[in-house]
Amino acid sequence: MPTSKISQKPIAKLNKKLATKHDIGLSLPSHPAVLYCRHPFLFSNLTMSKPKVLITRRWPQSVEAKLQQRYDVSFNLDDHPFTADEFKDALQNYDAVCPSVCDSLPAEVLNVANKRCKILGNFGVGYNHIDINTAQQQGLIVTNTPGVLTQSTADIAMTLLLMSARRGAEGDRLVRAKQWTGWCPTHMMSSDVTGATLGLIGFGRIAQAMARKAHHGFGMKILYVKPTPADEAIVSELQAVRCNSIEDLLPQSDYVSLHCPGGEQTRHLINAERLQLMKPSAHLINTARGDVVDSKALIACLQARQIAGAGLDVYEGEPNIDPDFLSLDNVTLLPHLGSATIATRTAMGEKVLTNLQAYFAGEPLPDRVV
Ligand code: DGY
Repeated sequence: MPTSKISQKPIAKLNKKLATKHDIGLSLPSHPAVLYCRHPFLFSNLTMSKPKVLITRRWPQSVEAKLQQRYDVSFNLDDHPFTADEFKDALQNYDAVCPSVCDSLPAEVLNVANKRCKILGNFGVGYNHIDINTAQQQGLIVTNTPGVLTQSTADIAMTLLLMSARRGAEGDRLVRAKQWTGWCPTHMMSSDVTGATLGLIGFGRIAQAMARKAHHGFGMKILYVKPTPADEAIVSELQAVRCNSIEDLLPQSDYVSLHCPGGEQTRHLINAERLQLMKPSAHLINTARGDVVDSKALIACLQARQIAGAGLDVYEGEPNIDPDFLSLDNVTLLPHLGSATIATRTAMGEKVLTNLQAYFAGEPLPDRVV
């Protein structure tokens, strides 16, 4: 791995300073964890080196500080996306590797020989970027961060729904371009949200949180599709109606929001045929995964004004967005902001820490995927 970009330099500097201070005449290791173990007053800890942990992208500072206290940790200082070779090297040289949802860990990477890594502590709830079957075959544990990003992601789904319905991004662009000529009775008319029908495809934590906001905040009627019926309590709280199929839900919904996991099973779940079943006045919201929607089909549908609009936070092949989206006025585009609040990203990091701590203590893992 080109280690130059991993955080060895500042730590080496610190080590040099401390070596001079304590005049211990030792060639100190390149990280504070082992430095701590070899501190002159703690020589008895000489053999207790800390686990080597690699964090593939920058995390909130408070969590990075805790990682530094607990582990022999390396950070990717310039926050660049890792290459396949960098990942292979990481798997060979660290006890734990902590990727994020923007990383890609296919079989070709996970099958690398001579792995030292035993656990992938994923920073994110979605894990479709990791080939889970291969990870399992290779004896790699995978953990994720469920629960803590529910509300912030549901907030972004509502944000997109409101922006798409009320043409928020389009209005902002118009004002900035100095093209607004003043209030007029027929200017930028849009669709009502209050009292409309929201159809949810998938009805897990995030969908239910969105349904609560939509129902209690905006008086929306809730429809959902899910392989098994939802809990009676949530169904009666929201007066939610379960549809027999996606085909049944689409023509009845003013807004359709996607909440299923990514991966092969849901790839292009929303395709040209299903888009045709939506009302011409309806909007499609995607905060799940980009490949759940066939982008080309959605672009054609938006170009033909076959539906009123779409609000997207995730994309096929992100961050490389199909350029045809950029010229459409009836799509609102956000850069995968679902969990991007300080509190949520910190809580996600804390979740990874809890899982790592349990793993290295030999205890059951709270958020084990495989
Ligand atoms: C996740 O955790 O899967 C989200 O997409 C991150 O925002």
